[in-house]
Amino acid sequence: MTKVQDTRILAIETSCDETAAAVVENGKTIRSNIIASQTKLHSRYGGVFPEVASRKHIEVIHAVVDQAMREAYFGYDDLDCIAVTAGPGLVGSLLVGVNVAKGLAVARQKPFLGINHIEGHIYSLWLTEAVDEIEFPILTLVVSGGHTELYLMRGHDQYEHLGGTLDDAAGEAFDKVGRLLGLPYPGGPAIDAAATAGNPTSYRFPRAIAQREYGYDFSFSGLKTAVLRQTKNFSAGRLPVNDLAASFQAAAVDSLVSKTVQAAEDHAVTAVHLAGGVSANSALRQTMRETLDIPVRFPPPLLCTDNAAMIAAAAHWHFINGRRDPLTLDVQPNLRLT
Ligand code: KG4
Ligand code: ZN
Repeated sequence: MTKVQDTRILAIETSCDETAAAVVENGKTIRSNIIASQTKLHSRYGGVFPEVASRKHIEVIHAVVDQAMREAYFGYDDLDCIAVTAGPGLVGSLLVGVNVAKGLAVARQKPFLGINHIEGHIYSLWLTEAVDEIEFPILTLVVSGGHTELYLMRGHDQYEHLGGTLDDAAGEAFDKVGRLLGLPYPGGPAIDAAATAGNPTSYRFPRAIAQREYGYDFSFSGLKTAVLRQTKNFSAGRLPVNDLAASFQAAAVDSLVSKTVQAAEDHAVTAVHLAGGVSANSALRQTMRETLDIPVRFPPPLLCTDNAAMIAAAAHWHFINGRRDPLTLDVQPNLRLT
């Protein structure tokens, strides 16, 4: 049984277009989880506009942090540590969160930790499951707007990167195909919804590099091009949006599931975890559960997309292992996990 040291951590997340702050106890219990989303602001550009994102973070970050502290009913004296996403992400966005976190750490004389955003997604699972139930080794598929990565996790802070995307991230493919189909940004949830009214076998789109010689890597650019080609067969306004969405989603899910199942079998893991925005996808969740005979776990929708509670959860394990970061720590837009 894992013995968990008591911690109370305030975390801040501003790596992309969500301004978020959360207070988490013992790496597990969410006391507050505030997320100010900029989705509406960016929807007119069909994607995140980096300078607009960082300016908006500056505007709202203090209110978001204040609200997280108020809702947690803790004072700064009750906190053990202040954590923040240090990368990967948009440099101007990361700078806002990191500097606010450093300022708070100095003013309140608290330890400071700069956390990897991908590791945050991985630890979103620890916010939902009894800590004692999670036994290593675990396979985690992180599928978000910026990442499609398969990690074998043998213990806390013990990652082996098994594979990743060779081109577009899964969420990026959903967003680009959403745009092709005239759906609102972000494309992922819109395709998920449209697909429920469509036939996934209407179009046979390519299942990217399913062959074993590609190992555990993914590719989505061929699939996106195949959808683009198919849309050209229809005149404006006559696109069979639901069928195209369902068929695209089926191909993307098949690719994700086949590589994950292969890796799970090869490494005899105890469970498969899904994390990141695309792990909210209903077809991905269902197919993964139907295909694997070991537990498949995923966070509730609010913890799939970017949030600060997951950053606090990851920070907890580093903190209890004695890690402390210097205030000279810089943002790392291209930070990798391994
Ligand atoms: O994890 P996240 O909030 O941000 C990054 O770290 O990138 O993921 C955002 C991505 C977007 O590409 C969005 O379209 C996708 O997650 N997404 C989904 C769904 N909900 C969000 N993709 C497929 N199905 C969904 N239900
Ligand atoms: Zn993310």
